[in-house]
Amino acid sequence: MDQKLTETIKKRYNRVSKVYDSMDVMIKESWRKELLENIKGNVLEVGIGTGANLPFYSNHVHLTGIDFSSGMLMHAKQKVDKLTLSYPLKLMEMNAQQMDFLDNTFDYVVATCVYCSVPDPVKGLREMRRVCKPDGKIILLEHMRSDNEIVGKLMDVLNPITVKMWGANINRRTMDNIKKAGLIIDQKEDLFSSIVRKIVLNPNK
Ligand SMILES: C[S@@+](CC[C@H](N)C(=O)[O-])C[C@H]1O[C@@H](n2cnc3c(N)ncnc32)[C@H](O)[C@@H]1O
Repeated sequence: MDQKLTETIKKRYNRVSKVYDSMDVMIKESWRKELLENIKGNVLEVGIGTGANLPFYSNHVHLTGIDFSSGMLMHAKQKVDKLTLSYPLKLMEMNAQQMDFLDNTFDYVVATCVYCSVPDPVKGLREMRRVCKPDGKIILLEHMRSDNEIVGKLMDVLNPITVKMWGANINRRTMDNIKKAGLIIDQKEDLFSSIVRKIVLNPNK
């Protein structure tokens, strides 16, 4: 994928990082909690942003969080200073489309509301698959294009505005992208119609 597009989206997240937490109203804390409370071991969170998930991991994780936006990461670091985390955490500036980790490194690979913005989502999902252990799991909480054709078309019309404003696509066909990346869907739960979903994936290795 075009390096220029990656730089553009990164800059948009740097720009919105100051106000991101006040804009982030769509995802319920209860969804984050339920998604994360039982995961354990060596965990990677991709696109960790300002660290909205940090309060919901248990003390059974060893967490690495990556994001390509230095602005978002700076706010995550400020959040860490205010929280008393019961687990070790490493935050790193890194592109999800080309991660520096070895194959089969993590027990769990997590992303929440990330594949709306990764410039090449299939590449990012393939990278998650690569760094996940063969018996590991990939856990997603993602918003995507509605399965309802009228709502989906409305999302297509509005999409250029959301991309321009903060870098997020509201009409990504994430279920198709998951299949293109070679991942197997173990579990899928609709949290808000077909627009917000919890998805548990098997790396299929
Ligand atoms: C909508 S925010 C979600 C942040 C956080 N996961 C949450 O649940 O609040 C998307 C995040 O993904 C990050 N991101 C998008 N594309 C990325 C990439 N290629 N590599 C690393 N981070 C990326 C953005 O910088 C941003 O922090």
